[in-house]
Amino acid sequence: MASVWYLGEVVPRVVVPWLSLLPSRPRPAGAAGVGAAGAATARSDGAATADDPAIAEAVRVLRGGGLVAFPTETVYGLGARALDPSAIARVFAAKGRPARHPLIAHVMDETGARALAAAWPYAASILARAFWPGPLTIVVPRAPHVPGAIAGGADSVAVRAPAHPVARAILAALGEPLAAPSANRYQSLSPVTAAHVVKSLGDAVDLVVDGGPTTEGIESTVVDVRGGDVVVLRPGAIDLAALRAVVPARLHHAEPPADGEGRASPGMDARHYAPRAALILAGAGDAERAAIDARARPGKDGAPAKVALVVRAEPSAAIDASFVVHVLPADAKGYERSLFATLHAADDAGCDVVVVEAVPDGDAWLAARDRLARARA
Ligand code: TXA
Ligand code: MG
Repeated sequence: MASVWYLGEVVPRVVVPWLSLLPSRPRPAGAAGVGAAGAATARSDGAATADDPAIAEAVRVLRGGGLVAFPTETVYGLGARALDPSAIARVFAAKGRPARHPLIAHVMDETGARALAAAWPYAASILARAFWPGPLTIVVPRAPHVPGAIAGGADSVAVRAPAHPVARAILAALGEPLAAPSANRYQSLSPVTAAHVVKSLGDAVDLVVDGGPTTEGIESTVVDVRGGDVVVLRPGAIDLAALRAVVPARLHHAEPPADGEGRASPGMDARHYAPRAALILAGAGDAERAAIDARARPGKDGAPAKVALVVRAEPSAAIDASFVVHVLPADAKGYERSLFATLHAADDAGCDVVVVEAVPDGDAWLAARDRLARARA
């Protein structure tokens, strides 16, 4: 009903807020938040944009129990009213996600987060003040009025105040928290543009608010503070060094899973974040050989496989123009920002195989290592 026919395919309605059309301005020095490089950094006050027709339409659809995909600074989220169990059930159905996988509740600020928590540990205050609005998600005890469905039945709730001006405009105009997992089908690659949302979810989403490409390009870091210490459940856009600077003594994290292994925390299956193409993770120095070998695999219609090669330095002459080559930034932050967009591009180019050169060891690369370990075939 909410969808329209376009070139023979059913697609959801896509609206563009005014603030995404404004030229981006650099953030003021010292402003909280992230990513100066993206499109929609023009305003962050939210409240002043409630008269934007795209924001008003998003709120109308959400109040009617619908699903609205919207940009955050990390990835696009699939939003639904967090306190409405039937809207939450629709999120799980649209994603094809098992009910035990909990969702993040998005709020404007620490006050909004505390309203969803049964207790607010000291570490939560320290972290919220250091990183919000921004890409940090904090798991705290769940208040009784928050539906258990959002937490996959657990007695906790994950909260985050996003920095993206479009996300903030929607939250401000709605005046309630929004449950929002990444706006993709279960186990597939997170969307970093509105087009990626449409590709993954089709008309399972009622409305897509297009705020341009996201700036962080990878999901938020998820931490659990219920035990007093800060336990990293999912590495992400806030790296360990940044966390350690704020909570030096109390930080715990684990390495990404070895092949085929799951993880204790809910919703962290080993296989996740996968492109359609088969992803091969090649040791440093072996990537070109692996790409050449991958060509011997059968591709579509019996032709040799179409192979993408994702590296951090120009390849040698052995890699000719028949390969799709992506040279990503050599620094961890720059690499993270372009990783998902690159994997989407390889899928969109019809690649059968993506060979990715493994990333370095060390804390700075933890989030990229985690996503690649889960994305591989
Ligand atoms: O950057 C992000 O976090 C994006 C944007 C849209 O905010 N959202 C996102 O949501 O990545 P999703 O649902 O794809 O991932 C949520 C993560 C999962 O790893 C889940 O296990 C964890 O947060 N999580 C959510 N609630 C939790 C809870 N109560 N306890 C433990 N982990 C939780
Ligand atoms: Mg996700």
